[in-house]
Amino acid sequence: MKLAIIGSGYVGLVTGVCFAELGHQVLCMDHDADKIARLQAGVAPIHEPGLQALLEVNLRQQRLHFSHQIEDAVDFAEVIFICVGTPALPDGQVDLRAMETAIAAIASRMQSYKLIVEKSTVPVQTAASLQMLAHKHLEGRAVPFDLASNPEFLSEGRAIADFMQPDRIVLGVESERASALLVKLYAPLNAPLLITDINSAELIKHASNAFLAMKISYANALARICELTGADIHKVTRGMGLDHRIGQAFLQAGVGYGGSCFPKDTAGFIKMAEATGYDFQLLKAVQEINQAQQDYFVHKVRTALAGDLKGKSLAVLGLSFKPNTDDVREAPALAIIRCLLADGAHVSVYDPVAMTNAARILGDSVVYAADPYAACEQADAVLFVTEWELFRYLDLSRLKALLKQPLVLDGRNIFEAAKMQQLGFVYQGIGQKIVSIHPPLGKEHEMV
Ligand SMILES: NC(=O)c1ccc[n+]([C@@H]2O[C@H](COP(=O)([O-])OP(=O)(O)OC[C@H]3O[C@@H](n4cnc5c(N)ncnc54)[C@H](O)[C@@H]3O)[C@@H](O)[C@H]2O)c1
Repeated sequence: MKLAIIGSGYVGLVTGVCFAELGHQVLCMDHDADKIARLQAGVAPIHEPGLQALLEVNLRQQRLHFSHQIEDAVDFAEVIFICVGTPALPDGQVDLRAMETAIAAIASRMQSYKLIVEKSTVPVQTAASLQMLAHKHLEGRAVPFDLASNPEFLSEGRAIADFMQPDRIVLGVESERASALLVKLYAPLNAPLLITDINSAELIKHASNAFLAMKISYANALARICELTGADIHKVTRGMGLDHRIGQAFLQAGVGYGGSCFPKDTAGFIKMAEATGYDFQLLKAVQEINQAQQDYFVHKVRTALAGDLKGKSLAVLGLSFKPNTDDVREAPALAIIRCLLADGAHVSVYDPVAMTNAARILGDSVVYAADPYAACEQADAVLFVTEWELFRYLDLSRLKALLKQPLVLDGRNIFEAAKMQQLGFVYQGIGQKIVSIHPPLGKEHEMV
């Protein structure tokens, strides 16, 4: 089949490369001409495990093509996936302008039947308004087309595996023709298919992401209760997660969720619900807990350093919003670093792949260390903010010797409190017993 992808970012590029790997002819389009030039040269502009290799193979096999002209995409393909960004506007509403631009350009150009598929995350009822927009840009020409919703559930850091072995594929369709095309396209994946109406498909995506965000906030709220009662969050969430009705996934307490999806999707869902007349209080609480968790971590750092960060040197390990990606959009690390800098701390940072992206935002306000040890040299404390696997294997004795004082604030519960105590660290995780903290956390502990 001949497919086009509009918007070749984290979702679009992975989608395009994977469909090419499945044997389709794919043209990936993006309005960013530099990105397209890099892709044409066989260089993946993002870090995603396995992506570079698949890009090279499929370029070589001439199944993958790139263009920065939307007209090329429309002329090339019968099925067009729209994978452009749908960021949040300042009030939380979903910004659909890139979707609308894409639809307008497709409709103006198309001469023969097209199946236009929303893969970007959009509020329920978006397809209905895009349909009207498409008709407007057809300007009376009788060109047949279908709109469909095929929300993407891949998760950055394991996007290729998620695309190739999805838990489910949701197809929101309103014609036999659209349904048949999409079923045929996805058949090789042999994954459970849910074929539904377009509104339900659109809603499934927002509902799923908001639910996962809710699980994270629930774990974070529990972590606070653990710290106040002496219970251990690892044991509590393990005990919960063993119940198959609950499951272990997304019950890790930490510094809160970030990334390009959960923050904007919860905000967008709240706004969308508001527009329908429903006050989504549950999700508002999820957002509040998430923000409070970041603030609480900074509070912990301040408290551990006697309330004053002015002139203190802090090492921050991990910048991406989660491991195995270079994506720093809405990364908790960046918000935390901004607070530390505002308090007058000197910050040195290390991340295995996200330093370049972080530097675009943080500039020269921090020192970019060559490795985790260099970041810790003469630091008053080390803060772990992303749970990169390599951090688990650090030589902790070497790290301790480099620090001015052996203070570890572990925002992702990478280490075990008892082991860190044995090694002589003053250690604080999230929702775990606080070991050797000085001064002791008393009333202040309950402040945030
Ligand atoms: N990143 C994820 O993990 C993920 C997972 C599931 C769903 N989604 C959803 O998928 C969509 C895309 O997310 P992403 O992370 O890939 O975003 P992204 O910012 O990485 O990629 C979007 C791409 O679209 C391009 N673009 C924007 N407007 C365009 C236009 N008019 N014409 C052509 N190209 C245009 C941009 O240059 C960019 O390369 C969003 O709706 C997001 O919510 C993201």
